Amino acid sequence: MKILMVYFSRTGYTERLIYEVKKNLETKGNTVYIERLRSLNEKSCVGEIWKDLHHYPLIFFSLFSKWWRQRYISNYTQVEDDIAPLQYSDVSEFDMVCIGGPKWAHVAYPVARYLRLVKGLEGKHIGSLYTFGCRCRF
Ligand SMILES: Cc1cc2nc3c(=O)[nH]c(=O)nc-3n(C[C@H](O)[C@H](O)[C@H](O)COP(=O)(O)O)c2cc1C
Repeated sequence: MKILMVYFSRTGYTERLIYEVKKNLETKGNTVYIERLRSLNEKSCVGEIWKDLHHYPLIFFSLFSKWWRQRYISNYTQVEDDIAPLQYSDVSEFDMVCIGGPKWAHVAYPVARYLRLVKGLEGKHIGSLYTFGCRCRF
């Protein structure tokens, strides 16, 4: 298969995982292309959290109430960041697209913008690869 792996990585953990998976897919005979998303508004860890800080208390309440969680998710407005022009802005030519990034409370802001901009995703096989955890580098 002809596979496109698209990812955003601020501190390199997602990038390492992407290249591990790429190697694995290639040993199985697939041809893998890479698109790295570049944020045009990258900030420090605290600066990134700041852009979405007003939502954090609402996420906290979601841990305790299903009723609240459902309302919070259906009303949430995803934060996005501008990204550099894409190499593959139309992914129709690929058999499969794998999209990766770090968990940033929700979707990492450059990935959210990518999902809005990219053409040709409809009806395609999609893979998703996310890293998370507290090894946040400032
Ligand atoms: C703005 C921001 C928000 C984050 N939010 C979460 C979170 O909600 N849950 C979590 O487990 N990790 C969170 N993290 C940690 C990252 O998901 C984790 O460090 C990730 O592996 C970093 O990937 P990268 O090195 O590819 O950028 C956050 C990090 C940043 C910078």
